[in-house]
Amino acid sequence: MNKGTTKILIADDDLMVRTTISQILEMFGYQVDTAASGEEVIAAVDDSYDVIILDITMPDMDGFETMNQLNRLDFDIPVLFLTGAGSMDYAVKAINLGAYDFLTKPIEDLDIFNVKIRRAVEKRMYVLRERQYKAALEDDIQEKAKQLEEQNKLLLTYSNSLENATVQLMTSLQNAMEEKDYYTAGHTKRVTEYALMLGGAMALSENDIVVLRRSAQFHDIGKLVIDLSCIQKPGKLTDEEWVLIRKHPTVGANIIKPLGFMEKEQFIIRHHHERVDGKGYPAGLTGDELDDLTKIITVVDSFDAMTSQRNYRKNKVMEEAVEELYKCSGTQFDPAIVETFAQAIVDFKPVKNGFSGEPLEKLYEQNNIISPDKSEF
Ligand SMILES: [Fe+2]
Ligand SMILES: [Fe+2]
Repeated sequence: MNKGTTKILIADDDLMVRTTISQILEMFGYQVDTAASGEEVIAAVDDSYDVIILDITMPDMDGFETMNQLNRLDFDIPVLFLTGAGSMDYAVKAINLGAYDFLTKPIEDLDIFNVKIRRAVEKRMYVLRERQYKAALEDDIQEKAKQLEEQNKLLLTYSNSLENATVQLMTSLQNAMEEKDYYTAGHTKRVTEYALMLGGAMALSENDIVVLRRSAQFHDIGKLVIDLSCIQKPGKLTDEEWVLIRKHPTVGANIIKPLGFMEKEQFIIRHHHERVDGKGYPAGLTGDELDDLTKIITVVDSFDAMTSQRNYRKNKVMEEAVEELYKCSGTQFDPAIVETFAQAIVDFKPVKNGFSGEPLEKLYEQNNIISPDKSEF
């Protein structure tokens, strides 16, 4: 700020005084505007002024009242009061109002006058610099906040794509293992379709649907890593073989566990062979301890097992299987979920390999390697 652009507003009801001071200030190189009253000061003032000189005794609105109103306008312009013979009362009042300094009139010592004006101008410069600094700081903070938000978005995208990549990897792993197990391959697909159908009928949230789909997709993944060679034979399973088979929910859940982002799925996989009466495995949880998503999987898993058994006994047709679900409603299955499933399955059009799915049935017949009992675990 140089003197030429430094604006000073001087108010005095005495034309003589304001003209003299105005001329002195102009002589020092300042731009000066004058006002004859407090009202004129309030009307003229804006943020472009750097210093205000106020006479204390003015008709109507005196210097103090003018200062009061200036304070409310909040331009933060240093005010110098013009006083006649010094009065302590005035000084205290002026300082309490936030006056920056005093100038005595008539002006006798030009050097002191000049120093006081210069100090007030410096004070204003400091105020303006601080204001600029604050504004820049705010901009900076806003900019940083924006950057942070963008980084968060990016991070979320990364973590989502990482999740997707992991699920895809799991799926590939599962597909590779299912090459050796035709029953589970078809079963997984059908269970997933039934689960999504039922989830839709129950109007589940989008998040729950994602969890349900992943749980259905991987619910029997444990079976694929247990050595099932001993049971890939026709006929009944021995007790030892059953013990092995019953490990698959826990093994499956343990496979999912290290992934971190599939905690709900882990629970569902671990407990997809529980029953609402607490007689299921592995933990013997009851209906109160099982969530809806797990209960959905138990219903659709059993429905598919009943409608896709081979060799050992004839497949149950859909109506018979639904009848069986009703029979076990309240003991094995949650009654409300059975009811919704029974209503929804009537209109269900499987995308592929449904309970009447031809290609897989043929595949089973051709390969004939599935133990009839396998469809029951
Ligand atoms: Fe299972
Ligand atoms: Fe299953």
